Amino acid sequence: MFQSPYEALGGEQVVAKLVDAFYERVAKHPDLAPIFPKDLTETARKQKQFLTQYLGGPPLYTAEHGHPMLRARHLPFPITPTRAKAWLACMHEAMDAIGLKGPVRDELYQRLILTAQHMINTPEDER
Ligand code: HEM
Repeated sequence: MFQSPYEALGGEQVVAKLVDAFYERVAKHPDLAPIFPKDLTETARKQKQFLTQYLGGPPLYTAEHGHPMLRARHLPFPITPTRAKAWLACMHEAMDAIGLKGPVRDELYQRLILTAQHMINTPEDER
């Protein structure tokens, strides 16, 4: 009856395009690349699963990995305010690159700002 944000965004294909465009940028970003694995295939696969359920689509991430506990899963990585900004900048550019527009884009981005802030676990000068 009501469309989920996942459906409104364009479903599986659009999530996949967004995540691929995002990690292309992460791989080249001087603040982010050093803390990510060289091969981002598995990271991208998990992020597609996660964003699908984050947007109200099928709970693919939880089905395979259990409760996301995102902050806990990020604790091994020093996430500074600069890295959170960089992450969001890559996402913003990825959204532009795939031509994602409209209210669903804006809502998703606003929510990602909050989630990214929540991931910060390291002050700027300790990285
Ligand atoms: C995993 C960094 C924000 C979702 C990771 C990994 C790193 C990372 C280094 C591990 C990659 C790997 O080992 O494969 C960051 C940084 C962020 C950030 C610097 C800046 C704030 C976010 C946000 C979300 C998110 C906002 C959700 C929308 C995920 C997911 C994984 C992940 C789902 C995979 C977890 C797993 O191993 O199952 N992130 N992240 N991250 N991140 Fe982030």
